[in-house]
Amino acid sequence: MEATKKRIMATRFQFLWFSFFTLLSSTVSIAKTTPRFPSSVVWPEQLSRSNTNQLYKTKYFTQILDHFNFNPQSYQTFQQRYLVNDTYWGGADKKAPIFVYMGNEGDIEWFAQNTGFMFETAPRFKALLVFIEHRFYGKSMPFGGVKDVAYRNGSTLGYLSSTQALADYATLITNLKQNLTATESPVIVFGGSYGGMLAAWFRLKYPHITIGALASSSPILNFVNITSPYSFNNIITQDFRSASENCYKVIKGSWQLIEDTADQRGGPDLLSKAFRICGNYVDQDSLQSWLYTAYVYSAMTDYPTPSNFLSPLPAYPVKQMCNAIDDPATGNDTFAKLYGAANIYYNYSGSAECFNLSDDSDPHGLGGWRWQACTEMIMPTGGNTEESIFPASEWHYENRATYCKNNFGVEPRPNWIATEFGGHDIHRVLKRFGSNIIFFNGLRDPWSGGGVLKNISQSIVAIVAKEGE
Ligand SMILES: *[C@@H]1O[C@H](CO)[C@@H](O)[C@H](O)[C@H]1NC(C)=O
Ligand SMILES: *[C@@H]1O[C@H](CO)[C@@H](O)[C@H](O)[C@H]1NC(C)=O
Ligand SMILES: *[C@@H]1O[C@H](CO)[C@@H](O)[C@H](O)[C@H]1NC(C)=O
Ligand SMILES: *[C@@H]1O[C@H](CO)[C@@H](O)[C@H](O)[C@H]1NC(C)=O
Ligand SMILES: *[C@@H]1O[C@H](CO)[C@@H](O)[C@H](O)[C@H]1NC(C)=O
Ligand SMILES: *[C@@H]1O[C@H](CO)[C@@H](O)[C@H](O)[C@H]1NC(C)=O
Ligand SMILES: *[C@@H]1O[C@H](CO)[C@@H](O)[C@H](O)[C@H]1NC(C)=O
Ligand SMILES: *[C@@H]1O[C@H](CO)[C@@H](O)[C@H](O)[C@H]1NC(C)=O
Repeated sequence: MEATKKRIMATRFQFLWFSFFTLLSSTVSIAKTTPRFPSSVVWPEQLSRSNTNQLYKTKYFTQILDHFNFNPQSYQTFQQRYLVNDTYWGGADKKAPIFVYMGNEGDIEWFAQNTGFMFETAPRFKALLVFIEHRFYGKSMPFGGVKDVAYRNGSTLGYLSSTQALADYATLITNLKQNLTATESPVIVFGGSYGGMLAAWFRLKYPHITIGALASSSPILNFVNITSPYSFNNIITQDFRSASENCYKVIKGSWQLIEDTADQRGGPDLLSKAFRICGNYVDQDSLQSWLYTAYVYSAMTDYPTPSNFLSPLPAYPVKQMCNAIDDPATGNDTFAKLYGAANIYYNYSGSAECFNLSDDSDPHGLGGWRWQACTEMIMPTGGNTEESIFPASEWHYENRATYCKNNFGVEPRPNWIATEFGGHDIHRVLKRFGSNIIFFNGLRDPWSGGGVLKNISQSIVAIVAKEGE
């Protein structure tokens, strides 16, 4: 009986990861309901960020639609956006370097505004700063620049892939250097999360275009049969557990309590009041998914300073959430505790009147990741051991495949990334031929389990921050 119930709960509690930048992921409950995307992860408040102080000039480049095909249709073009800051550049004569940010799955301005590191180091190296937007995101939309057309179905989305994106970057960088008569200037590529994966892969695929890559929080090994699907949630479990054992226990026990409460008469009403849900309606899947999102994103953005990347957060949000859960004032009221924790993630600004579980706004335009996660980015996460802070569950490739067939009419190719870029036995392989890549990972980042955590050679170096994000 107990075991059956557990199993039912586990199947109900299946989450699938989509958009995923360290920070940018989004959860989807594919169990029963129609998946919701990026959901409350990304807050509309973000749009009010200060973009008045100009950090760069915006430019466009006429990019080719399909780099890997010579049929006439692939000669179509689109306008690719890139941002430039030349304030610190030493110039082509001095062969001063060019730092290029490899755009992720979202609006490039958002990443540029959150990549302080490049701005901080540019003066020292007298570097030109360039941020290139990834095709199908932001304003870099093929098919006439119209998102609805570009995203219509697999016939158009088919041109959204990592290999096309890398070829875009190679083409644009080469052309830009010609225009600046800066062919002698060395190019260093940067990126974080998916952008970090692109940076590392770019160095491996286009060594004649870049002399080195800095890949931050880039889980290039988080693919099928390379990294365990349990790794991601194990790290989240550890993050909360190290903040407080009681906090871990309360959250761990809460999933069942939510189920039990939801099944009782008047239960949904009680839950909706306890969590101050808008419109008085709550179903347990969306409530669980909403809480799950708060824990996962706090773990992913558990920075030591207040931040405002995915949503405005205090320093050390995981610790703050656990403080709310451990707060003696909430006594033994588990829902009051969880509400307190959720309030830190969803209402740090204090402006939420109620919480909208069906909010699917996507201010940074991350939605294209759904397609990528259905074609080549099969990155298993979300398996849960008995120890997990989330209900025990297994990761099933078939769930993803079914979702993808239903939504896009395509079958994922789970082995393609490892075939195209490698991944199996990466230490041996890269030691033999690679060079000049820095992998940075913070071990508290849930994605670090799929990162390169060991030095591979003199010039392929892993920097690991034990307590870092
Ligand atoms: C480049 O960035 C700096 C801030 O780091 C800013 O002061 C400067 O105006 C920017 N330059 C351009 C051309 O946008
Ligand atoms: C995509 O939509 C276009 C326009 O409606 C249609 O012509 C095309 O056949 C569709 N492709 C697929 C794969 O469904
Ligand atoms: C280089 O210059 C040509 C001609 O003005 C222009 O069409 C192209 O967009 C420029 N390349 C880049 C990367 O801006
Ligand atoms: C992963 O490994 C298992 C066991 O060896 C195998 O059955 C499965 O097909 C592999 N998955 C992929 C996508 O290669
Ligand atoms: C919570 O605490 C109150 C008194 O402190 C007690 O009466 C009640 O039974 C407790 N409830 C649970 C579920 O432990
Ligand atoms: C959000 O925070 C403010 C300020 O602390 C509070 O007044 C408000 O009730 C909170 N909103 C919700 C939905 O709990
Ligand atoms: C919640 O969000 C959805 C989707 O963004 C929206 O349609 C709905 O009006 C919102 N509900 C409330 C009560 O704000
Ligand atoms: C890799 O080597 C560098 C020095 O080259 C060192 O600073 C760093 O700690 C090493 N990384 C690991 C994970 O051992």
